[in-house]
Amino acid sequence: MANLSQIRREKMLNFLEMLKEQHSDDVSLIAINQIEKALTSKKYGLVWEEHEEEVDIKMQTYIPVFKEVESKEIVGNPDSEQYNFLLEGDNLHSLKLLEKTHKGKIDVIYIDPPYNTGSKDFIYNDSIIDENDGYRHSKWLSFISKRLKLAKDLMNDMGMIMISINEIEVYSLKLLCDSIFGEMNYLSNMIWQSTPGSNTGLGIKTVTEYVLCYAKNKEKCCISSKPIVDDEKYVLQDEHLEKRGKYILNKLDRRMTGQHYSDALNYQIEMPDGQLLYPGSNLTKEENWNWRWSQNKVKWGIENDFIVFKKNRGKWSVYFKQYYKVDNNDNPINRSLPYQNLIKDLDGANSARGTQEVMDMFNKKAFDYPKPLNLIKYLLKIPAGQSVTVLDFFAGSGTTAQAVLELNSEDGKNRKFILCTNNDNSICEEVTYPRLKTVITGKRADGSKYSDGQKANLKYYKTDFVDKESEEIYDDLLKHITEMIQLQYGVKVDNQKYIMIMNDEEMDDFESSFHKHKDIEAVFINQDVLLTTSQEKLLQDINTKIIPDCYFDFELREIGELW
Ligand SMILES: C[S@@+](CC[C@H](N)C(=O)[O-])C[C@H]1O[C@@H](n2cnc3c(N)ncnc32)[C@H](O)[C@@H]1O
Repeated sequence: MANLSQIRREKMLNFLEMLKEQHSDDVSLIAINQIEKALTSKKYGLVWEEHEEEVDIKMQTYIPVFKEVESKEIVGNPDSEQYNFLLEGDNLHSLKLLEKTHKGKIDVIYIDPPYNTGSKDFIYNDSIIDENDGYRHSKWLSFISKRLKLAKDLMNDMGMIMISINEIEVYSLKLLCDSIFGEMNYLSNMIWQSTPGSNTGLGIKTVTEYVLCYAKNKEKCCISSKPIVDDEKYVLQDEHLEKRGKYILNKLDRRMTGQHYSDALNYQIEMPDGQLLYPGSNLTKEENWNWRWSQNKVKWGIENDFIVFKKNRGKWSVYFKQYYKVDNNDNPINRSLPYQNLIKDLDGANSARGTQEVMDMFNKKAFDYPKPLNLIKYLLKIPAGQSVTVLDFFAGSGTTAQAVLELNSEDGKNRKFILCTNNDNSICEEVTYPRLKTVITGKRADGSKYSDGQKANLKYYKTDFVDKESEEIYDDLLKHITEMIQLQYGVKVDNQKYIMIMNDEEMDDFESSFHKHKDIEAVFINQDVLLTTSQEKLLQDINTKIIPDCYFDFELREIGELW
């Protein structure tokens, strides 16, 4: 089995031996010894044997491209130009293509990769990796590190990545992420109680999994806080509703002990009927009672409608109003709590519920171990932002997409998603896509009602390949440019805002109908088109890109087609 780093190291050590024979002077030998020491010394951090992956080798001879399956387009929101994307294929290829369209553009990445349990969940080079594979962990690390490095380039400066994992690989993954994203960008390793657990059996039962979170740049990453639900506690209202929100009543007095007692806070307040009372509704001063507010603050509270007097069975009590939107000085307040790294007691967020949710959609067990919707919704609320793009490149049954669409309906935000999954066991075609169709249309495959549906549009792409040795490489690539433009801008190319010009004739048509075009965002012109002087002038103030070069510049240079 190839162990590339070891082979490389051996090769370099052999070179050094040869150099030693040819350069026996002291200076050379000292230098050679130092290089040898550096090569053989143990380094801190994660060290593993790199493995070659077939999907990676394939890119030496083929260029991955996307091909749209137009029959699978779903338009659930005709009023919106915005599209979400489901990308079928190996995620290494999809990530390479996303590098061309989404570098620095992704706000949130959530992934749930194979956990490498040794029981058939991790397929590498088309083989199931079981617990007897001696290279099980290094293969997993090779596989995941390649993808995480690409993922990092896609994240924008405010972006964050959340990775579901369990105890098998969490420790290696933490070290790997430290080296890829930087220790300083570590946000949290959230602990999720995935199963309720039971008191039967022996040993120590694992009832948790993890969600490892990193920022692209911790200083710039915006994390929201958990709002305290208004109606949960704050139920009373008065004429200040708009500015102050609803309120709850708290007693203004309290019994104090020892050093906490303050004589200054033990004074008389005049009740609405003129009666003067000390705290504790006492007629005479009792040492262990205090008002919470000073005399001046109470005066201010009465004048500003923060204080309430209530008479119950002939006895007065004094309360202050605690409003949702303002503090006790009438200043605006954001009553929220920080997220914590323990995800527990979250309604419906356990593994069994995830399975049930997919069963409810397909009326059968269509997928092993989908994540529960409420877990993903909870996680997607953590990054702040109104209009974030969410990428999941181990999408499986598509829970992330359903969570995005349902959350948008719940909180009115405008999240978009890009999902990648392979089609092992036809999962993309038979589970992910039908699930998204059901979520958007509100109807199951058998026609029965699932929900009211979600307003969203979807495009379905498959990865395809162009032979690097093709005689017609330009034409082959040009066939896949529409897909790239649509993915980059999240729209359908309809030659209104985004215009593709493939030949001289189309360029002439564009020139003559130019006055009819409004709001042009970008024009993509085949590199074969010969522009007239007037056409060059016309394009001067327009965002113009040459195709296929603007997307496949690197590959074309690599094979000597571009200089
Ligand atoms: C643990 S599942 C994700 C489950 C998902 N979170 C859900 O709720 O349904 C991992 C998925 O990643 C897919 N996968 C594994 N390796 C992949 C690869 N190289 N490219 C694309 N998808 C891959 C598998 O087919 C599997 O469906």
